[in-house]
Amino acid sequence: MLKIRSPAKLNLVLEVLGERADGYHELRTVMQSIDLCDEISIEEHPLAGHLELHTNTMRCPVDEKNLVWQAIHWLREATGFEGGLVITIDKNIPVSAGFGGGSSDAGTVLAALVARYRLNVGQSVLHQTASRIGSDVSFFLVGGTALATGRGEIVAEAPQLAKTSFILACPSILVETGKVYRGLRPANTPAKTTSSKDACASFLAHIAQPECWEMMVNDLDAPARQLYPSIDEVFEILSALGVKHAMLSGSGGAVFAPVESPEVARQLAIRLNTAGFWSRACESMDRAEFRESVLRGGAGLSGEY
Ligand code: C5P
Repeated sequence: MLKIRSPAKLNLVLEVLGERADGYHELRTVMQSIDLCDEISIEEHPLAGHLELHTNTMRCPVDEKNLVWQAIHWLREATGFEGGLVITIDKNIPVSAGFGGGSSDAGTVLAALVARYRLNVGQSVLHQTASRIGSDVSFFLVGGTALATGRGEIVAEAPQLAKTSFILACPSILVETGKVYRGLRPANTPAKTTSSKDACASFLAHIAQPECWEMMVNDLDAPARQLYPSIDEVFEILSALGVKHAMLSGSGGAVFAPVESPEVARQLAIRLNTAGFWSRACESMDRAEFRESVLRGGAGLSGEY
C-alpha cells in the first residue's frame, strides 16, 4: 500500500490579466503549499484496469467527476499503465473552497504513481496530463512557493516563503469557480501592463519581509463576495478578532491570513470554530517539505518526479 499526503494551496497573490479566446482567463498567481492535507492510500487490485475510489465525505464524488479518477484515466492513456487500483481519499481539505483540494489529490496521485511504477513519462507530458485535468493541477507537481501563469497551468519555482503561520476559515458553501470568473467586471481587473503593476513580482521580491503581506491581492475577491455574501461574514469576524491582511484564496470561499505564531493561529481557530465556522491553524510548506509529504510512506519511491 502507498500512502500519500496531499497538501492544500493558498493564492498569496492572484491577478487576472484578461479573458482568453478559449473562455479561460489569463492569470498571474503566487501559490503556496500549506500543511492542511488530504490523506490518500493507494492499494493494488489484481484486475488490470480496475479503478475503485472511496472517500469519507458525500461532497466528494467517487466516479469520473473526481479529479483523481481523471488523473488515472489520462495517466493510463499517456503511459499504457494498466495496474488495477483501489484509492481511498480521506478528505481534510474543504471541497470547492479555493484550497485546491481536488487538484492536489489528482496532482499528487499522478506524481506518486509515476514514481512508484517508474512510469516512462517525461516532465512535459506529465505537466500536459495535469493541465488536462484542471488549471491548477500542475502546481501540485511542484509545490512550495511557485508562480503560475497562463490559465494557471504554467508553473515556475519561486523563492520559498519563510515558515509562516496562517489562520484559515471558510463559510460552509460550495463555490463554483466558473461562476466567479464569469462575474468579473473590468473594474475588478485594472490594467496591469507594466512590471511596476506586477503584484506577483513585487510580492516575490519582498517575500522575506513583513511588507510582503501588504502586497497580497486577489482580483476574484469582488465577484466572489458579490455572488456568495456569506464570505463577508468570515472577513468580518476575522477583522473583529484583530486579524490583519485577511484574503480570499482562489475563487473562495476560503479566507486566510498570516499571523505571528502557531499559537496565535491555534487560538484564533478555536474562536472561529466556536463561532460556527470551519477553521484551522496551519503552516506554510516549502518545496522540500511538500515532496516529503507526498512521498511519505511510499516505500520504493525515488522522490524524483
Ligand atoms: O480549469 P478548471 O476546471 O479548474 O476551471 C474551472 C472553471 O474556472 C473553468 O471552466 C473556467 O470557467 C474558470 N477559469 C477561468 N480561467 C482560469 C481558470 C479557470 O476562467 N484561468
